[in-house]
Amino acid sequence: MSALAAEHQALNMGQGFPGFAMDQSLIDRVHHYMSAGYNQYSPMAGVPALRDRVSQIIQAQHGHCYDPATEITITAGATQAIFTAISALVHEDDEVILFAPAYDCYAPAIELQGAKCVWMNLHWPDYQIEWDHFKKLINHKTRMVIINSPHNPSGRMMSHHDMEQLTHLLDGSDIVLLSDEVYEHLVFDDQTHCSASRYPGLRDRSLIVGSFGKTLHCTGWKTGYIAGPEKLMTEFRKVHQYNVFVANTPIQYAIADHLEDPNTYLGLSAFYQAKRDRFCDGLRDSAWNLMDCQGTYFQNLQYTNLSSTGDIEFAQHLTIAHKITAIPCSVFYPDHCDEQVLRFCFAKTDADIDKAIQLLNAIQP
Ligand SMILES: Cc1ncc(COP(=O)(O)O)c(C=O)c1O
Repeated sequence: MSALAAEHQALNMGQGFPGFAMDQSLIDRVHHYMSAGYNQYSPMAGVPALRDRVSQIIQAQHGHCYDPATEITITAGATQAIFTAISALVHEDDEVILFAPAYDCYAPAIELQGAKCVWMNLHWPDYQIEWDHFKKLINHKTRMVIINSPHNPSGRMMSHHDMEQLTHLLDGSDIVLLSDEVYEHLVFDDQTHCSASRYPGLRDRSLIVGSFGKTLHCTGWKTGYIAGPEKLMTEFRKVHQYNVFVANTPIQYAIADHLEDPNTYLGLSAFYQAKRDRFCDGLRDSAWNLMDCQGTYFQNLQYTNLSSTGDIEFAQHLTIAHKITAIPCSVFYPDHCDEQVLRFCFAKTDADIDKAIQLLNAIQP
């Protein structure tokens, strides 16, 4: 869709990255460390100062202290953390339960191990998990469950009730939970992000993945982290060592300094909530159906009042005829379930959001 957007000079609200500048002081900090000679390999698990910082932030937010020495590893982005975790813990003939729509990097990693994806589809408009159905998917081959909250592409968050159900259903098993929490600081309407690290019955079986790219508006830096109990982290690091060995050194030092000020991440929810509200308020009286976005920087819109065409075709039509690009949500389902929903990324300048509103309001049935 991004290639099509470029070809037709359409406003790209599809791909999930910020359309505005990141904090210059963080760039200056990287420059400082590069100039000061911090340009060689860091320790395999990451720069200690950044591991300490991640541990402090998780403890302050969720009340659990991960040991920076043995329970936190800095990675080359969340994608690498996810791939490495799956490679380390999932093997041939294992089964992994995951929810669709899903971010695209989980399934290929599972299949590369010779393991099987066991999908559970969630649906517009609330993408609720039917836990009775989930229970039926668990068997002796189940090795891992992958959750993602706040969730890309729906913007839904796992509730306390969901996490309790999950705790209960995994109790007594040796199933690993891979919890993709890259949008952990983009949570709206004063809700609490129910991190797996909050739940004693989950955290001993969980690897939790974060991404500084999402938190610090620098997706191209590809720096993230993974946190989990030592027994799982030991396995993770066995693969990490040969998969990537270390993440970028000067960036790690700079991020450790930058995150000393909690406002760098605590202000994010208000910042993005204002953008979500601007986008949604501008479409409130339109023919588009709006989903309630609880977190992330994605707003899903359903177009059943506008057209009956499939979502891929409609997204292409929007790009070519109306000069605005979104991602058709069927691509996030393995069976291409098409609910005529498009995902829009509102991590854009206010001017671009206003332009998007204008373009979308102009579309008639
Ligand atoms: C749900 C989810 N997980 C992981 C990632 C990848 O994060 P990173 O860029 O740090 O690899 C993304 C990026 O869009 C995402 O949306």
